[in-house]
Amino acid sequence: MTVCFDQSVQDPQLVDNKNHCNTHELVLEEGFMVPHHNVGTGGFDAPEINAFGHTFRDYDVESERQKQVEEFYRMNHIYQTYDYVKKMREEYKKLDKLEMSIWECCELLNEVVDESDPDLDEPQIEHLLQTAEAIRKDYPDEDWLHLTALIHDLGKVLLLPRFGELPQWAVVGDTHPLGCAFDDSIVHHKYFKENPDMNNPAYQTKNGIYSEGCGLENVMISWGHDDYMYLVAKENGTTLPQAGLFIIRYHSFYPLHRSGAYKHLMNEEDAENLKWLQIFNKYDLYSKSKVRVDVEKVKPYYMSLIAKYFPEKLRW
Ligand SMILES: [Fe+2]
Ligand SMILES: [Fe+2]
Repeated sequence: MTVCFDQSVQDPQLVDNKNHCNTHELVLEEGFMVPHHNVGTGGFDAPEINAFGHTFRDYDVESERQKQVEEFYRMNHIYQTYDYVKKMREEYKKLDKLEMSIWECCELLNEVVDESDPDLDEPQIEHLLQTAEAIRKDYPDEDWLHLTALIHDLGKVLLLPRFGELPQWAVVGDTHPLGCAFDDSIVHHKYFKENPDMNNPAYQTKNGIYSEGCGLENVMISWGHDDYMYLVAKENGTTLPQAGLFIIRYHSFYPLHRSGAYKHLMNEEDAENLKWLQIFNKYDLYSKSKVRVDVEKVKPYYMSLIAKYFPEKLRW
């Protein structure tokens, strides 16, 4: 997300094209692999700055990243089928991988993101705490929202060997429903034509296998860190309010909360929860500031929230 912010400043094209910008910030925010800075320079002693004030190195990185983003969504759109999601939900609902506390998982996530995002110059736990602290400043009384911010990305541990070492397309990136038509607002929509679900006419209408207003709870959403962390929280008996669980489960569902697609499947409770998700999303995207968070200083506060809303050890 920091990367996108920087690009927006540097590149007027990206300022004009909000969706384009979002594509990058989402994927980067979600821990997608980005190339190292020396990609493409290959020993050539190029001048540092081009006519537009960009470094050539950044240009190479940017075009390389666009290719990777597109390839990422190509695979995501082909392999995420209704049956695949159903299978993954059944498998991970068993919660038979290991036992650990929420804080232990925060520390584990440091490992994940350090490996997959070489642009990160600070531990991921600081980023989580920056998001949480930014929300805490503006919503001091909503302690559940502070904790939700801290934990919303913990499901990315799915990338680790102990959790099945799932491929990127099954863990991060935007999410979307299965079992009904793929909305045009879904990024890189064209790749759905290779998805086997396209051969099932029952999945190709606006409501598909669902009925209007059935509630998102009843809709199958593409598998990733959102749904996994939701399952972990719920199955371990969290006392977080529904809005917190909704944020965790749908924070990557950009077609809904950015584009307003699939609202016909929501019920009244979803509509209420969506308001909180939209508040949360602003902080998730823009809170990665250069202000360092003193982890040890704020840790006692978050430990008290974890104790309030979660059991000491959770099954994962
Ligand atoms: Fe996320
Ligand atoms: Fe996030």
